[in-house]
Amino acid sequence: MQTMPPPLKVANAKGVKIYLEDGQELIDSISSWWCAIHGYNHPKINSALEEQMQKFSHVMLGGLTHEPAEKLANELVRITPHGLNHVFFADSGSVGMEVAMKMAVQFFKNNGIDGKTKFASLYRGYHGDTTGVMSIGDPEEGMHHLFKGFLPKQFFIHPSLQEMEKLFEEHNGEIAAFACEPLLQGAGGFNFYPPEFLSGAKKLCSQYNVLLIADEVATGFGRTGTMFACEQAGITPDIMVLGKGLTAGYLGLSATLATDNVYNSFLGESYEKAFMHGPTFMGNALACSAALASLKIFERENYLGKIARINEILKEELLGFEAKGVKEARVFGACGIIETLNESYHSGIQEFARSRGVWLRPFLNVVYTMPPYIISEEELRKVCGAMKEFFK
Ligand SMILES: Cc1ncc(COP(=O)(O)O)c(C=O)c1O
Repeated sequence: MQTMPPPLKVANAKGVKIYLEDGQELIDSISSWWCAIHGYNHPKINSALEEQMQKFSHVMLGGLTHEPAEKLANELVRITPHGLNHVFFADSGSVGMEVAMKMAVQFFKNNGIDGKTKFASLYRGYHGDTTGVMSIGDPEEGMHHLFKGFLPKQFFIHPSLQEMEKLFEEHNGEIAAFACEPLLQGAGGFNFYPPEFLSGAKKLCSQYNVLLIADEVATGFGRTGTMFACEQAGITPDIMVLGKGLTAGYLGLSATLATDNVYNSFLGESYEKAFMHGPTFMGNALACSAALASLKIFERENYLGKIARINEILKEELLGFEAKGVKEARVFGACGIIETLNESYHSGIQEFARSRGVWLRPFLNVVYTMPPYIISEEELRKVCGAMKEFFK
């Protein structure tokens, strides 16, 4: 707070544009931290919300239920990989992942297996900012040093099946689940790994009785080119978490999906076996209505086609880009990344891009775009142009 420039005040946002109070217009090239997949102020999502608001905005989801939550749960079961048949709603990606971790630990307890209370995850991963999920985020960049002694200690590997097998051979008796962002690690620096690692990881997890948690909070809803990144590896994880694009950035909502195997272990005669987690705003009716409207638009308006086109343009614009301080330019799905040798090489790019009408927000040593899928070709080329021109 002492050193940051004052934030820019937004007066309005529509389509891919953010309008500032001082009259400036900016193309939002990062979809408000990757969630505003249809841009802003979408008339169909607006009317879905208005319609739901006339009925009610929120009721507790304990002992009560409602159509938007039930419909959305059914839709998520329909569109996610086969076998994820049960849905738990919470209010953010971090909490959705906390839910997944608690589910994994209790799954083994409920099955009479003690001692499996730890997690394996990938270096350079990111799963949110609450305590449990921080412990499985990158141990170097993930601020573990600040919270040493507070965060539980977990196991970390690179995306290598040999490393994974060695870890499982030695520690599978302690590990409840392997948690990862499938194929694309976002906030840990936009690193990609091949689907073969994920499909191999799924096999090793089954072999060593470790659950697989796929954190699709960032990758879900098309960002890697398919509806979910897990599809590219042809796997069904035991638990999958969705957030961000789920409500197209309108309201906080996450969904933690589980297989019958996981779900059935929580059925029993006493509370001991039940999954005791009850966020106040779980299954918020407005959030579920926004998510249903968003999904309808996604499917009816050929969004996977739009994403494929974004991918082509990003490749044309960014692949092979060279300039002083640039380590590599890479593209995956609807993400375009310029990685620099270190942060100092992109210092000032945010102001530069703003002067060209583009909203960027680099972090670590990466400058990136993850645009709303409705972005036009001209707007996307303008975003890439601003990214590249800065380095020239
Ligand atoms: C892969 C992943 N998981 C979880 C989260 C946390 O989501 P939220 O910020 O909604 O708590 C994020 C947020 O960036 C994320 O990228």
